[in-house]
Amino acid sequence: TKRYTITLLPGDGIGPEVISVAKDVLIVAGSQEGIEFRFQEMPVGGAALDLTGVPLPDETLSMAKQSDAILLGAIGGYFQFSIFNFHFQLMYKWDNNEKHLKPETGLLQLRAGLGVFANLRPASVFPQLVDSSTLKKEVAEGVDLIVVRELTGGIYFGKPRGFTTNEKGEEIGFNTEVYATYEIDRIARVAFETARKRRGKLCSVDKANVLEASMLWRKRVTTMASEYPDIELSHMYVDNAAMQLIRNPKQFDTIVTNNIFGDILSDEASMITGSIGMLPSASLGETGPGLFEPIHGSAPDIAGQIEVYCVPCDAYLDKANPLATVLSVVMLLKYGLREENAAKRIENAVMDTLTRGFRTGDIYSTGKVHTVVQSVIHLKLFNFWNIYALG
Ligand code: NAD
Ligand code: IPM
Ligand code: MN
Repeated sequence: TKRYTITLLPGDGIGPEVISVAKDVLIVAGSQEGIEFRFQEMPVGGAALDLTGVPLPDETLSMAKQSDAILLGAIGGYFQFSIFNFHFQLMYKWDNNEKHLKPETGLLQLRAGLGVFANLRPASVFPQLVDSSTLKKEVAEGVDLIVVRELTGGIYFGKPRGFTTNEKGEEIGFNTEVYATYEIDRIARVAFETARKRRGKLCSVDKANVLEASMLWRKRVTTMASEYPDIELSHMYVDNAAMQLIRNPKQFDTIVTNNIFGDILSDEASMITGSIGMLPSASLGETGPGLFEPIHGSAPDIAGQIEVYCVPCDAYLDKANPLATVLSVVMLLKYGLREENAAKRIENAVMDTLTRGFRTGDIYSTGKVHTVVQSVIHLKLFNFWNIYALG
């Protein structure tokens, strides 16, 4: 038997809920392919703040680095009532923390610490879910694109940054969008290679009409294109790209873009597919283990909410859609461990689950398979069917 060590970082909110499903799926698929997984669960984000006082403990990063792959749920605050000036205010826990003590900072430190600069975020429309998209059937049907997002640079990490005061004594906050040629070149290379394995079309998204960092980005991507004569390269401004994604998403194959544009455009792309609860991601570096996570956050509005008790699986099932994380496991097996067969099994199980009509609320569409009440019960058999279908 082959053995792998997987670092599980459940995090906050729905993170632990989706990780528990993904872990079950990994165990089952592994056992059928003669693979044994050893899991080490470590705190990150708000969970780590409560436990250790920092959002990314040193042990979490070092254990992660020593493992074969890392699977993360989500991080970020949950709703809390606080009393300020005699009125109630709804806010997220940890949101008033200083920058270095925010859950999000832990995730950014993890990505930087692992050096995973290339974030692959595929968005494809499952035929079974065409009706779950808010877009017209003919627009959404058959969409199959991937956003290659630069993950360890840009405005997220650029310096100078911080708070200060201006000449009028007003408080100002400032950030800097910075890209060095080596950072652009390495992500561009991943993007060209990705496009080559797909349909050979690459669209580089930037704001080169305004931003210097984007001007350099466009120049370097254009230069590299000469090494890839088989790839059809185009450039698009990010504002137009946001519009084109909704107008005609099928025009896109591979999109390469910076950290912040990639964050925003991948959330937008998720809605073409039906739900952000469906989109997985893989973050890879030059060496070391990859980081795999759904693109969604901790979903405080549905975290901890049980939708139904499932009789055949004898379990309470959550509102959160675990498929983005389950599909992240597929990416973990494919890109992280090169275990194609186990990946295929899980992919098939997801397809089967959707074909049978089992749906969480975010991807439920009326008139599909069941009445609403039945669907709530049946569609939430996710855990059960995922395990069952794997057999
Ligand atoms: P979010 O992605 O958590 O939620 C946005 C909306 O999508 C919510 O209505 C939520 O219920 C829904 N949703 C998300 N995942 C779902 C799933 N699996 N199934 C069903 N519905 C789902 O974004 P937000 O509300 O803007 O942010 C909440 C917190 O999460 C913040 O603290 C934010 O910083 C953090 N965040 C973390 C990550 C991450 O861990 N990678 C990503 C995004 C946001
Ligand atoms: C994501 C999230 C993160 C990001 C936040 C939580 C730091 O939105 O993974 O998409 O902006 O990268
Ligand atoms: Mn995001």
